[in-house]
Amino acid sequence: MKKIGILTSGGDSPGMNAAIRAVVRCGIEEGMEVYGIFRGYEGLIDGEIERLDRSSVGDILHRGGTVLKTARSERFRTEEGQQQAANMLETFGIEGLVVIGGDGSLRGGLDLSKRGVKVMGLPGTIDNDLGYTDFTIGFDTAVSTVLDAVSKIRDTSSSHERTTVIEVMGRNCGDIALYAGLAGGAEGVLIPETETDLNELCKKIVIGANRGKQHSLIINAEGSGISSQELADTIQTKTARETRLVVLSYLQRGGSPTLSDRMLATLTGAKAVELLKDDSDSKAIGTVEGKIVAYDLEEALKQKRELDREMYDLIGVLSK
Ligand code: F6P
Repeated sequence: MKKIGILTSGGDSPGMNAAIRAVVRCGIEEGMEVYGIFRGYEGLIDGEIERLDRSSVGDILHRGGTVLKTARSERFRTEEGQQQAANMLETFGIEGLVVIGGDGSLRGGLDLSKRGVKVMGLPGTIDNDLGYTDFTIGFDTAVSTVLDAVSKIRDTSSSHERTTVIEVMGRNCGDIALYAGLAGGAEGVLIPETETDLNELCKKIVIGANRGKQHSLIINAEGSGISSQELADTIQTKTARETRLVVLSYLQRGGSPTLSDRMLATLTGAKAVELLKDDSDSKAIGTVEGKIVAYDLEEALKQKRELDREMYDLIGVLSK
């Protein structure tokens, strides 16, 4: 394969740049021409495509965001948009495409693969919501950012003897809340994967306060099914303790990637080039039990992410 393209799509995530750098430099090393496609599938339809060289990706390894920009393309959801995108790749002579993004973006890659393009999907999202990989690029950085915030909020919550609800991202996946809750010592974690009994949670907060707990931290995943404001109001009413709300929002998506995210991005990027060089069928690349894996793209996207029940229960045990 002589010409490959790369794009980032959906919500950005720390480590996307590290993956772009790896794909570009490994591709050039293999004698390929590497083309950057700007603004995800939107830019692909419009032909926003430029050839990249080694120095195009200099000094980006440590930066959050994506130098290729990103978009959520409505046009690409249509048959017509997908055909236009496939035609554009043909016009540029690009036979292989690396897509860095979450579930929707990799599904877009699958649509293109059905139109004859070899697609390598890299899991780029803070949400950690892809079933085929243990971790996604950006998740570790996002949780680290959340943890930093949780520790700071803990200080002030403790001084004021308050309960604080902290809302985190993750769409329909509770992993950011789960990991931050376990590592940050939260009293409660509300996630989309399971129901939470609010009466029980409030009882726990009161019991803890009566025992001398200075504060309570409750982490609410944005997709839990209850709005964070409603949650904070309910807790305040039922516990008669002052309750505040902090929404971390886009803070979680920015920042320099952690070691884990840089490693995952770099190794999956290198793997994508290796597979394209070998003219492999379309694959989803990720990590399982510490090893880089590549699965058939369609099969990988069928895998559902399961809740780690033990981890969830442990949060309850540790914060009694
Ligand atoms: O998928 C990443 C993510 O940050 C989700 O956690 C969140 O629900 C969504 O993107 C927010 O999207 P937008 O950038 O369009 O507001």
